[in-house]
Amino acid sequence: MKILVTGGAGFIGSAVVRLAVSRGHEVVNLDALTYAANLENVAGVAESPRYAFEQADIRDRAALDRVFGKHKPDAVMHLAAESHVDRSIDGPGAFIETNVTGTYNLLEAARAFWTGQGKPEGFRFHHISTDEVFGSLGETGQFTEDTPYDPRSPYSASKAASDHLVRAWHETYGLPVVLTNCSNNYGPFHFPEKLVPVVILNALHGREIPVYGDGGNVRDWLYVEDHADALLLCLEQGAVGRSYNIGGENEARNIDLVRMICAHLDELRPAGAPHDRLIRFVTDRPGHDRRYAIDPTRIRTELGWRPSVTVEEGLRRTVAWYLDNEAWWRPLLDREGVGRRLGTA
Ligand SMILES: NC(=O)c1ccc[n+]([C@@H]2O[C@H](COP(=O)([O-])OP(=O)(O)OC[C@H]3O[C@@H](n4cnc5c(N)ncnc54)[C@H](O)[C@@H]3O)[C@@H](O)[C@H]2O)c1
Repeated sequence: MKILVTGGAGFIGSAVVRLAVSRGHEVVNLDALTYAANLENVAGVAESPRYAFEQADIRDRAALDRVFGKHKPDAVMHLAAESHVDRSIDGPGAFIETNVTGTYNLLEAARAFWTGQGKPEGFRFHHISTDEVFGSLGETGQFTEDTPYDPRSPYSASKAASDHLVRAWHETYGLPVVLTNCSNNYGPFHFPEKLVPVVILNALHGREIPVYGDGGNVRDWLYVEDHADALLLCLEQGAVGRSYNIGGENEARNIDLVRMICAHLDELRPAGAPHDRLIRFVTDRPGHDRRYAIDPTRIRTELGWRPSVTVEEGLRRTVAWYLDNEAWWRPLLDREGVGRRLGTA
């Protein structure tokens, strides 16, 4: 397949690009290169004849039309987004522009292209979204694909809006779409403003490790390379118009996750041990969702997919990767906003 991946210079998009190229697909990586992007994430495939890069902004419809016309993709995997909840609290406008208006532009560009090609049945528009659209759970229960939407942050509201647009373009215009909603990802190439890399890098530098609120917020942790594998499967075998929840089957409280990371660091960098002495509880994020959990039944029974690594194993690999790849993360520490507390409203 020739796949147009949007946001392929970001964390998850680059994992998709690397995996798709390694499996023999052709990939066109479309990315605006915002603060969160890094072309180093795809350096391993940049020389491949099956890889092309287009710097373009999904807010720019004419640029999208040019990319569709030039590359004529068989499928779109749409990951480009503003993705950091804390930034969405400080500046929601960019989230509406990229996640809502940008997705609308991409849907319209895809629809025009698909229509111009004679509406091939095999064409796919795969929209990658988050479990955060479902809101916050109590102590029990899990999100299924039928859980009503209840987003509570500007980020999750903008993603929910984009999901609704994608479904509407399927129902109204027949665009062959697939949707996926996944839980929190972690792994190599994660931008150092998100919890897991913040913990690793602060601990490594002997700096305080901030944990929001009481640390009791629960997430279902999904290793990014497992996610990329699930995404390609949903693209290839998912039913048109259907959505699939993708989880890691690894629920953990933030404080327990942080302690696991510290334990791996104690083993790999004993000089700084015990790293959990650096943990500090800080003012909570406004509107912080308490618990997310994914019911993976649909993807497991219909597509036969399960995650391949436990959170213990995935974190061990991730910590080791950060220790081995200082040349990757060091320059990112100078990017705007990194290392500062954001989103306190
Ligand atoms: N990270 C997670 O845990 C998680 C969980 C569930 C869903 N998601 C979703 O997966 C997708 C990818 O997330 P991520 O963590 O890799 O994000 P990221 O912030 O690491 O990467 C986003 C990429 O999109 C690009 N981008 C942003 N605005 C753009 C625009 N206007 N035009 C073109 N490109 C633009 C950025 O340059 C960047 O390369 C997002 O849609 C996100 O909502 C992420």
